[in-house]
Amino acid sequence: MSELAWWQRGVIYQIYPRSFQDSNGDGIGDLRGIGTRLEYVAALGADAVWISPICPSPMADFGYDVADYCNIDPIFGTLDEFKQLMGHAHRLRLKVLLDFVPNHSSNRHPWFEQSRSSRDNPKRDWYLWRDPAPDGGPPNNWLSRMGGSAWEWDEVTGQYYYHAFLREQPDLNWRSPQLRRAMDHVLRFWLDLGVDGFRVDVVWLLIKDAQFRDNPPNPAYRPGEPDHHRLLQSYTEDQPEVHEIVRSMRATLDEYGERVLIGEIYLTVPQLVKYYGVNGEGAHMPFNFQLLNARWNANEIAGMIRDYDIALPEYAWPNWVLGNHDNPRVASRVGAAQARVAAVLLLTLRGTPTLYYGDEIGMTDGDIAPDEVQDPAELRQPGICQGRDPERTPMQWDGSLPNAGFTDGKPWLPIATSTSVREQDGDMSSMLSLYRRLLGLRRSNAALVRGTIENVVAYGDVLTYERRYGNERLFIALNMGVEEATVQSRPGLLLLSTVSTRSGENFVQGANLLAASEAVIVVV
Ligand code: NOJ
Ligand code: CA
Repeated sequence: MSELAWWQRGVIYQIYPRSFQDSNGDGIGDLRGIGTRLEYVAALGADAVWISPICPSPMADFGYDVADYCNIDPIFGTLDEFKQLMGHAHRLRLKVLLDFVPNHSSNRHPWFEQSRSSRDNPKRDWYLWRDPAPDGGPPNNWLSRMGGSAWEWDEVTGQYYYHAFLREQPDLNWRSPQLRRAMDHVLRFWLDLGVDGFRVDVVWLLIKDAQFRDNPPNPAYRPGEPDHHRLLQSYTEDQPEVHEIVRSMRATLDEYGERVLIGEIYLTVPQLVKYYGVNGEGAHMPFNFQLLNARWNANEIAGMIRDYDIALPEYAWPNWVLGNHDNPRVASRVGAAQARVAAVLLLTLRGTPTLYYGDEIGMTDGDIAPDEVQDPAELRQPGICQGRDPERTPMQWDGSLPNAGFTDGKPWLPIATSTSVREQDGDMSSMLSLYRRLLGLRRSNAALVRGTIENVVAYGDVLTYERRYGNERLFIALNMGVEEATVQSRPGLLLLSTVSTRSGENFVQGANLLAASEAVIVVV
């Protein structure tokens, strides 16, 4: 499979570092902890780890508020420990991807401290400063994604600054050439160390309207939705100038050989595909988040797969995401049985899959008591914003209570459930074994990695499609319903089923029976 890049052949595993493995008993995961679990990730069959932010941060948004782009936060370890971790990963043939957060810094970043110190500071225009409106209020109607106005008054110089997220996360000004140069140095700092690529935070928000025009009202807004849904984000997201920025990041990565640029982008498919660049000189993979909030319905998902495949230009490599640290876990969204179907879907679709830590053991959302809430998005929009703590609970390594092998101390968030890697390890019918088998099949069947996807159809609750490469043809059928169903197939040999460990059985020409929530992969 040599002419595909590693990130096209591979599977990415997302680690939320606070929650993966603690090594020093402070209840918060760290780099040494991750190091002790890399063998597990490699044996699972992943090819790369993406680690959510680990740079020095006051942790107002758990690392998405960066105070120094070229170092490691002491809570996670040191730069030397990071280098060791990367060496260890590379020896295991695991690539290492970092989270790059260029849209905003922490308000404690020295850049911001300088910027706010006076109107003529050389870094003044590294952030977005504006005079008040004539009535003294915010310069325009832009709203923060964490609630309230996106403008924060700053007494020191008598102006407002813009923050798309928390007031502790002032947005950087990507129209400033100096800021752009500084950010380019950040990329090079990590690339020089040997990092294999980046997941870039909120790429579609990077640049805002140059005239700071008011956003128009959103006619579809319903009371109870997050505050910023009151307005269409016409002037604060997906601005035409963003593509040139993505291109320049990509150009830097290209100087370093086979590195990967992934963009976090929540947009419609037609908007999303533009982030690949006009000729593929943009992001290698703008994240495709459609499965995160899809209705779990065969017809809907069939349409989504077909439309995405058609929308992708010929140079664009697809990708699929089933879970991340900002959305409820798949096992909670669709239930335990369908989470197994979802695993087959994720790992048999065309394109690079990204797995969220813990989904491979079917972790569900944790119950967070009101006085245990940590997520700033929830704390600042109580009752409106569904918090993100439930999907960030610690990895469940073993069944030992109260901390599941994650820490010797008190975990920063409670353990969600009692299932664990240890419990599932030797059990051939477990979710973990299913994931291992699926990842193994991807390695041994070229059709799963490089094949076309064809005949994507839904019959009632059953979704079927084929992956084809040369003479290899795989038939995939997913019963997304709670009743058994028949599926029409060519004759073939069963490779995998989610409801049993049977394989090697014959599939007959014509009607074959699928149990409730059964997904199968058949060589036909
Ligand atoms: C997207 C990240 O995934 C999320 O966790 C964070 O709160 C925002 N960007 C702000 O950086
Ligand atoms: Ca720790």
